[in-house]
Amino acid sequence: QRRIGIMTSGGDAPGMNGAVRAVVRMSIFMGCEAYAIYEGYEGLVQGGSLIKQMHWDDVRGYLSEGGTLIGTARCKAFMERPGRLQGAKHMVMAGIDALVICGGDGSLTGADKFRKEWPGLLDELVAKKELTAEQKRTYQHLNIVGLVGSIDNDMSSTDATIGCYSSLARICEAIDCIDATAESHQRAFVIEVMGRHCGWLALMAGVSTSADFIFIPEKPPSENWEAEMCSIIRRHREMGKRKTIVIVAEGAHDLALRKVTPTRVKDLLSNDLKLDTRITTLGHVQRGGRPCAYDRMLSTLQGVEAVRAVLNATPDTPSPVICVIENKIVRKPLLKAVEDTLEVAKAIEAKDFSRAMHLRDAE
Ligand code: F6P
Repeated sequence: QRRIGIMTSGGDAPGMNGAVRAVVRMSIFMGCEAYAIYEGYEGLVQGGSLIKQMHWDDVRGYLSEGGTLIGTARCKAFMERPGRLQGAKHMVMAGIDALVICGGDGSLTGADKFRKEWPGLLDELVAKKELTAEQKRTYQHLNIVGLVGSIDNDMSSTDATIGCYSSLARICEAIDCIDATAESHQRAFVIEVMGRHCGWLALMAGVSTSADFIFIPEKPPSENWEAEMCSIIRRHREMGKRKTIVIVAEGAHDLALRKVTPTRVKDLLSNDLKLDTRITTLGHVQRGGRPCAYDRMLSTLQGVEAVRAVLNATPDTPSPVICVIENKIVRKPLLKAVEDTLEVAKAIEAKDFSRAMHLRDAE
């Protein structure tokens, strides 16, 4: 009988609970046992009460809850080999031979590393007499399956990450609220949204709220962006628009390309256009709250597929990540997806935008 562990890791995202629920229930439905690993990789490193068997009723009500009810962490200990050694020991002691991890690119990179090191970790534990040779034989194969949970929608190989549509909806809701004040006072707002290296949230929020101007990290602003932005906004005002919304992705802010920062944009709107301007940083409001219907559906279908992937795995199958491409739930090689994602992030950090755009187009 297989014992399948489920963990959420990295930044929480709406829909993670749906993934936990689906993995737990599908595991039980398929005759396996399900285990929740609490607090992300920290749960593996510490073991004990942080690894708990889950029954059908334990995940009742999970589908509509935000955040992650089994906790998450950005765990430093697991990045080092001694932490992973402890993790391997606690997994074998709990009898877990497959792990489904719902997290972002960093969490999934850690997962793949863990699988690669697995035989060596078991050897070391046997040498230290912390495991028996019999335990090593029984648990020699570890299956890892990734689910992409992140509000950023920054993972290559998938059209949508679990959480991105809930976050987008929340951002739109927040901008609709800001619109009320903007319209009433004829003000301008510069709104900073999350997304790390990725401009998807900013771009889609801009399209969905008819923002006047958008800055994303993938596309540097033109040399004369100041004049360009001011002339567009001036025209919008002349056409009768009472409000101005400029969206700055945090990735664009971090790069501060051609000095784009929310403060710089505000100064231009205030000084050159004489608009009464405020800056709003939406922050973690974007990550909270109940998941939207799409994320409930995506996390459920992908959680079910993750358990199927565990049960179909052979020792030679590379670890898969569960994706959605053109509305189909599909499996893709985990390592390739992570590598492609890191390539885009690296290109953006190096300010090589044509390469970043080329890589995104190729996704
Ligand atoms: O990856 C999700 C995310 O919310 C990013 O958009 C943001 O850059 C980051 O996490 C914030 O992380 P933290 O909650 O650790 O400050």
